[in-house]
Amino acid sequence: MQTDFLVIGSGIAGLTYALKVAEKCPDKKVTIITKTTADETNTKYAQGGIAVVNDLENDSYDKHIEDTLISGDGLCNEQVVEIVVTEGPERVDEIIAWGTDFDKNAEGDYKRGKEGGHSENRIMHHKDVTGKEIERALLKAIENAPNIELLNHCFVVDIITQHHLGYLVTKSTTNIESFGVYVLNLRSNQIEKILAKITLLATGGNGQAYRTTTNPAIATGDGVAMFYRAKGKVENMEFIQFHPTALFEPGNRGHAFLITEAVRGDGGILRNIHGEAFMERYDTRKDLAPRDIVARAIDSEMKRNGTEHVFLDCRHFDRENFVEHFPNIYSKCLSIGIDITQQMIPVAPAAHYSCGGIKTDEWGRTSIQHLYACGECASTGLHGANRLASNSLLEALVFAHRCFIDATNTINNLHLNEQIPDWNAQGTSEPREMILITQSLKEVQMVMSDYVGIVRNDIRLQRAIRRLDLLFEETQQLYQSSTVSPQLLELRNLITVGYLVVKGATLRKESRGLHYNTDYPEKSNLVQNIIL
Ligand code: FAD
Ligand code: SIN
Repeated sequence: MQTDFLVIGSGIAGLTYALKVAEKCPDKKVTIITKTTADETNTKYAQGGIAVVNDLENDSYDKHIEDTLISGDGLCNEQVVEIVVTEGPERVDEIIAWGTDFDKNAEGDYKRGKEGGHSENRIMHHKDVTGKEIERALLKAIENAPNIELLNHCFVVDIITQHHLGYLVTKSTTNIESFGVYVLNLRSNQIEKILAKITLLATGGNGQAYRTTTNPAIATGDGVAMFYRAKGKVENMEFIQFHPTALFEPGNRGHAFLITEAVRGDGGILRNIHGEAFMERYDTRKDLAPRDIVARAIDSEMKRNGTEHVFLDCRHFDRENFVEHFPNIYSKCLSIGIDITQQMIPVAPAAHYSCGGIKTDEWGRTSIQHLYACGECASTGLHGANRLASNSLLEALVFAHRCFIDATNTINNLHLNEQIPDWNAQGTSEPREMILITQSLKEVQMVMSDYVGIVRNDIRLQRAIRRLDLLFEETQQLYQSSTVSPQLLELRNLITVGYLVVKGATLRKESRGLHYNTDYPEKSNLVQNIIL
């Protein structure tokens, strides 16, 4: 298959970019591929909303910039922060024009919620299902774009570069080019090649590297892993954000239902097992301190009291108001026997967001030519060491636009490379036992959760790297001898992502933002991005 613009991923980043390039270049073909169904994305699960300054009477760009920089703990790229905050409002207007419905009050003004680390109410939302509403509106808009083709159930295996033409490509090769991708078509079970003039990686996050995560099953860090295999540069992978308040359900260790931070924004109070509102002992901003601080405080309370969770107290809320703003959370809690006005909600931190990723410049360009990245898989410099709540949907919109500008400026000078060989599956056969793959996946998640969680130290990191090395070796052998399956590909990618997180964590000899190492509890004077 051949296309002009190839978009890998159908979340907010991929869809908004695709809509824009398709409109600007009606004679060009735009192909979006997604590994399951189009709406199964991290985007769909976003709850709290999108942080944006569009009420200049009560808020200011400077305040949003300041909040982002404070949360990022000294590691944000200030130019990028300014770009995202100031260009954000126009981008949000665009998704409204594409049909996204944000909640309004009786006077017809947008409702604006508050979340941790924000000095003002600036989170636009659609009840507690903002991402679902955005995804719905964007997929609807895609249906009306005649030059966009959307291919579900196509799993991208690898990025095609000069390496596939027989050239030696290493981390020091300066002119690596992307010619397209190899894709496992899950309907035919064949690996096909898709040649593209320009490719965008919008593959989302990697929460599945951990045992408990708010992320859906698709979040296996595929984009980052394949980009790293293609010898591209990734950075700051050690900054894994744990959301402080995922619903704790005994016996459920996998996907954790999120209790949005907006609940604390509306007055929810964290209490330990003894009923104490403990956050005031940790930070003057209490329950609305930035996420790294709240998650660490909860972790510390759980360890101190030997419990698996703390509580979020909403008993003082007016039921009608709660149901109005958080209908999804209300009914989820009720479904497991918790009436939020009578009982406290058991919550615990869960892996939530990857702040690092594929290193890009301010136009979303990566270290590989004709290959852009945006959304959660990218590291633009916005988040620094800890993402400010609800800044990620905004970042995806702003950078999708910037990738679109740069890509459409260059597309006419580019040609397809017709020399690319077909995928070679010779010598491989069906894996004899799937248990080898599923068991290794559990091991990766265990290693990452037990040794590379909210609090780290050198001994744990060394253990993690040794275990991941072994898993890598075993999986590589399996990969070379087996026909590929999504399970095997995801395992391979999660091991790579795990390795990158541990490697970054090992090289960062300090505690900053989300990376807390008890062997180096202080922030270093040397402010550096860790590039791998
Ligand atoms: P995604 O939306 O995750 O899309 C990834 C796409 O890539 C999918 O289509 C997937 O199929 C595709 N893909 C991945 N690998 C492959 C492959 N190998 N081959 C083919 N396709 C592939 N952020 C906020 O700003 N505000 C919030 O309120 C908020 N709430 C959140 C709540 C939850 C529960 C979660 C999990 C996240 C939340 N976030 C929030 C974070 C935010 O939702 C994500 O960072 C953002 O949606 C990521 O968008 P994306 O387009 O980069 O990727
Ligand atoms: C939430 O709603 O608490 C999640 C917001 C985010 O991850 O930005």
